[in-house]
Amino acid sequence: MFEHLQLIPPDPLLGIIDKFNKDTNPNKIDLGVGVYKDENNQTAVLDCVKQAETFLLKKQTSKSYLGPNGDKNFTRLMCQLALGEQSAGILESGRISALQTPGGCGALRVAAELVNRSKPGVKVWVSDPTWANHVPLLGDAGLTIEKYPYYDHGTKTIDFSAMLEGLKAAQSGDLVLLHACCHNPSGADLSQQQWHDLCDLMLERELVPFIDMAYQGFGEDLDKDAFGLRLVIEKCPEAIFCISCSKNFGLYRDRVGVVGFMNVSKDTSPALMSHLVQVVRGIYSMPPDHGAAVVANILGSEELRAGWLVELNTMRERIQHMRRGLADNMAAKGFGEDFRFVESERGMFSFLGINPSQVQQLGDEYGIYMADSSRINIAGLNANNLEYFCGSLATVLSAS
Ligand code: LMR
Repeated sequence: MFEHLQLIPPDPLLGIIDKFNKDTNPNKIDLGVGVYKDENNQTAVLDCVKQAETFLLKKQTSKSYLGPNGDKNFTRLMCQLALGEQSAGILESGRISALQTPGGCGALRVAAELVNRSKPGVKVWVSDPTWANHVPLLGDAGLTIEKYPYYDHGTKTIDFSAMLEGLKAAQSGDLVLLHACCHNPSGADLSQQQWHDLCDLMLERELVPFIDMAYQGFGEDLDKDAFGLRLVIEKCPEAIFCISCSKNFGLYRDRVGVVGFMNVSKDTSPALMSHLVQVVRGIYSMPPDHGAAVVANILGSEELRAGWLVELNTMRERIQHMRRGLADNMAAKGFGEDFRFVESERGMFSFLGINPSQVQQLGDEYGIYMADSSRINIAGLNANNLEYFCGSLATVLSAS
């Protein structure tokens, strides 16, 4: 039955883990997959998560099914966190249909499946570049992928006028996938003014914003990182949003996320929800509970929430510190302001802006692994390996 299948190369991001594990260099550094690592290079379980798990272990009385929607209390708390002060009004309006999903990937896929049911093959415009997995998650559900210009590798900034120009080719009803904050892979985020201009364009051309928020709290803070999503909810008649708790709660393998639809009218919500539930039932039936129960516990407890905020701030500030460290260290090595842009970008990722053979050389000769595009996970850097990393990068650049 399967004899005709051809071997395909490993996932470009997940394949880096394999290469890194096989390397025997004691100084090796993994700057590949986007997981947060602390100063000791550990992806530790957050204290607030441990506390919530301890509580659940004592208090949880049943593991019976919750149904395709998952934990409704979790979803409500997450919508409040994402949508902020305005959430009360919009949640009460009945125009939001949301449910718990297995991570942000599950949210994106379920959203795409539902969109494709309603408008088969509709176009979804994604940034060039975007997270590599956006394409299979949305495209394999049947949506047609189109790209709009976003990051200019020459200037190392967003080419916003090209972005707006590119989106003028979109037709009424097309979706526009936007990263709420901490753009993956570039780290270059839209300014508040740019979000306003983009909303105006989407309104004028009747485009549907589709927001992927995987890093709330990793950029500036919880509110500023949700600025674009909240603006879209306020200004646009419909919107889709996908939220991940992988990074900001460190719950990667527990698969915790939310998908939400803001409908034009509350009358649309019951039918939409019935299809959403059927889509879920047909793919994975119900989401895993544990991680969502942990998040609901943290957000529902004043004490745990306060502890979580401290831990979240620590993660964000450490990443920012490493961004500054990289820029300063490269400046001290004679590269002037060449790497200063890294300091102004946000979230886990930035492109180093080096070519594929330099990326390969860093892996082969120095055990420093990153995506072929030169995207690095800044959280893989720490006080112990920064000098080795910058020294190796400087040597490779000077030799080219
Ligand atoms: C990444 O971009 O590295 C992360 O979002 C992890 C993943 O699943 O690709």
